[in-house]
Amino acid sequence: MANPAADGRLPGVTDAAQRAQNADQLVVVTGGAGYIGSMLIPRLLDQGYRVRCVDNLMYGGQAILHHFLHPRFSFAEVDITDGPALRRQVQDADSVVHLAALVGYPLCKKMPRRAVEVNVDGTQNLLDALRPQTRLLYGSTGSNYGEVEGICTEDTPLNPLSLYGETKTKAEGMCRARGNCVAMRFATAFGLAPRIRLDLMINDFAWQAVHNRYLVVYERRFRRTFIHVSDIARAFLHMIDRWDHLQHDIYNVGHDSMNYTKEDIVGLLKQRLDFLVHFAEIGSDDDKRDYAVDYSRIRASGYEITVDIDRGLGELVAGLPLLRIRNPYSNV
Ligand SMILES: NC(=O)c1ccc[n+]([C@@H]2O[C@H](COP(=O)([O-])OP(=O)(O)OC[C@H]3O[C@@H](n4cnc5c(N)ncnc54)[C@H](O)[C@@H]3O)[C@@H](O)[C@H]2O)c1
Repeated sequence: MANPAADGRLPGVTDAAQRAQNADQLVVVTGGAGYIGSMLIPRLLDQGYRVRCVDNLMYGGQAILHHFLHPRFSFAEVDITDGPALRRQVQDADSVVHLAALVGYPLCKKMPRRAVEVNVDGTQNLLDALRPQTRLLYGSTGSNYGEVEGICTEDTPLNPLSLYGETKTKAEGMCRARGNCVAMRFATAFGLAPRIRLDLMINDFAWQAVHNRYLVVYERRFRRTFIHVSDIARAFLHMIDRWDHLQHDIYNVGHDSMNYTKEDIVGLLKQRLDFLVHFAEIGSDDDKRDYAVDYSRIRASGYEITVDIDRGLGELVAGLPLLRIRNPYSNV
């Protein structure tokens, strides 16, 4: 058999022919109205897939409104903790991208029971409902590595430091045990999107620098690893495109050039914006993640990022001033 190109397509298959073939394929995206989903869905539609977004709209539906005109888009308002309702939406899927979750350690800490119900039990509902031939792409996280000396590869033992990391680690193991699955351990996302998350480190730093002109940073030397949200969306397409040629069921998704300390990120922002920064030596960040990640496995499969830190920070510095969040108690 001919070798697939970096994007997984066989030589001679044109983009238009591939898109026409993709129209037979239904991709269900759980959590599709969220930060990553809102960047993934338009790309799937663009590649010709039929797309069904399954989401309970805990942050509203604004991020997907513009897709309803698209003939290959559909939506079901379903909570993944409702097994029978979820089953009805995923049984005919060719591929499922599983993103629905309570995301991030602060939210999971605030709602610990719900975090387990959604992230673990909801994932079990999905696994119970899927036909064996349905391809499952699990949106996992590098948070699972926790605090690690040296560089994490996919074989590094997982050491989640928070309930969020614990639930994601558990669900990842369940998905891998099912088979016909790829777990994608993403770096921390950043960048503008229809549902931007301002709790993510770079987005948060940039927001504070842009709007408050002041930033307090704890644990300045902690190492983190980043990826632009549009490159996360591209990674899912990369995996679906070359499914039959994948050599592993787990991939770190990011780029070796995107491992930075918090202090590095502040320095890069300072090159673009004038703001005050206080590196606090007393006190600590509740987020104890300190790790750097090796991305050679996904790069060997032909995947490269397209947005580096400079471009991504430029986007945030240009775009964040347009977002205005008013104090709801202000009467002025
Ligand atoms: N953004 C990152 O940096 C990052 C990094 C690694 C992994 N991930 C993973 O990617 C996935 C998506 O993350 P995100 O950044 O888009 O988060 P998000 O919070 O923006 O999106 C989550 C979506 O899931 C939906 N949802 C939540 N509970 C649900 C339920 N019970 N039933 C149905 N829908 C539900 C929400 O309404 C939301 O639209 C998550 O699984 C997360 O763990 C994200």
